[in-house]
Amino acid sequence: MKPSHKLLFFLCPMLVLGFIYYSSGKLHLHVWGQKPQSDEESTLMASTKGPKVKLATDSHVTESETEITLTVGRIVGSVYDKQGFLLKLDTKLPLELAYKYGNLSEGACKQGYAAAKMTTIYPTFMKPAPMFLDRNFKRLSKVSNYLPPFGFKTQERIIEIILTSTKQYGLGEELDSLSCKRCIIVGNGGILANKSLGSRIDEYDVVVRLNEAPVHGYVKDVGTKTTMRITYPEGAIQKPDRYEKDSLFVFSAFKPLDFKWLRQMVFKEKPRGTEGFWKSVAHYVPREPVDMRILNPYFIQEAAFQFIGLPLNNGLMGKGNIPTLGAVAITMALHNCDEVAVAGFGYDMLTPHAPLHYYETVKMSAIKESWTHNISKEKDFLRKLVRAKVITDLTKGI
Ligand SMILES: *[C@@H]1O[C@H](CO)[C@@H](O)[C@H](O)[C@H]1NC(C)=O
Ligand SMILES: *[C@@H]1O[C@H](CO)[C@@H](O)[C@H](O)[C@H]1NC(C)=O
Ligand SMILES: *[C@@H]1O[C@H](CO)[C@@H](O)[C@H](O)[C@H]1NC(C)=O
Repeated sequence: MKPSHKLLFFLCPMLVLGFIYYSSGKLHLHVWGQKPQSDEESTLMASTKGPKVKLATDSHVTESETEITLTVGRIVGSVYDKQGFLLKLDTKLPLELAYKYGNLSEGACKQGYAAAKMTTIYPTFMKPAPMFLDRNFKRLSKVSNYLPPFGFKTQERIIEIILTSTKQYGLGEELDSLSCKRCIIVGNGGILANKSLGSRIDEYDVVVRLNEAPVHGYVKDVGTKTTMRITYPEGAIQKPDRYEKDSLFVFSAFKPLDFKWLRQMVFKEKPRGTEGFWKSVAHYVPREPVDMRILNPYFIQEAAFQFIGLPLNNGLMGKGNIPTLGAVAITMALHNCDEVAVAGFGYDMLTPHAPLHYYETVKMSAIKESWTHNISKEKDFLRKLVRAKVITDLTKGI
């Protein structure tokens, strides 16, 4: 081959890749809609001709661009793994990002960084995806056709009732108005113990905790701040006095019954029995409805089927196809935070005597082969994020 041919051979795929990267940035705007629209606005949209025409063109663009992506997938198929992640993960910033971020002063918040970096290793990533369900949730087409946990099909009415009472659908005025948000997901792993990371964790704008992981008594290692606590019924704190006063209670549903439980918690009704739950559940959540949110189930769906590559099983819950709450929270953060860090993630299977959780003496060896999760596949996904520096792992357990 002549050198000039070789160059062309190399340049063509690069150009195509560049185009995909560029277009994926443009594309995602049309998918979720930039902002949750009020009812008034959407009626307006429907009643005027202009926006309608525009919408039609937009969906056309989406289609043709998807086609191109598929074609390219065949030509340069070997560049990406089965999930669509770049095979050769590079920690170096691509040129356009280096230009944007390389010159920021040390410690400055890098606006849009996590999503931009994610897109470089996973070109089909589309950033907009609302953190919580709001009154317009039925418009979220990606989740409306899946049953829980991957969507909300069959639960529309109960969700409507709940959202009428909770009334708030964001992080709160102060956080929503930040132009650059740094988030940290605090996992429950024993690896968090005795590392004195508390003050570093508290520096983040948004501190996400999971299930019943305690703060009181562990402040030195896990910090004091809790912006939100994401839980499912079986994982919710059972002692009312252990709830933080100023945090959001964020609910993540894994089965239809979970929504019923949430309605009881929102309306302060006593749940009748615990049938259908796999362990005892809280009977009372001492939070006002305005401090409660429903996590967008899209993050469970995307983590499971796109990022981790768990079996689709016709879109139903099945063996080994449920991501852990930690992976779901990280997925949420990739869409909604400018910088994402994690701490307390990673099971060290090689050290069976190490503690499983930072707040218990249960040992690592107690973990059994899980029916619902696929820890090893999930770890592969998290490793990609860490290796490519999409997220920062403070405890280096991933
Ligand atoms: C970094 O910023 C300084 C000051 O704004 C500017 O003079 C310099 O050219 C920038 N360097 C790069 C690589 O963008
Ligand atoms: C942390 O330190 C305490 C007190 O020194 C000790 O009892 C505990 O076992 C340590 N935990 C871990 C996980 O090393
Ligand atoms: C996890 O995924 C691997 C690879 O696809 C598979 O061999 C294994 O059986 C899965 N484990 C579970 C618990 O589903």
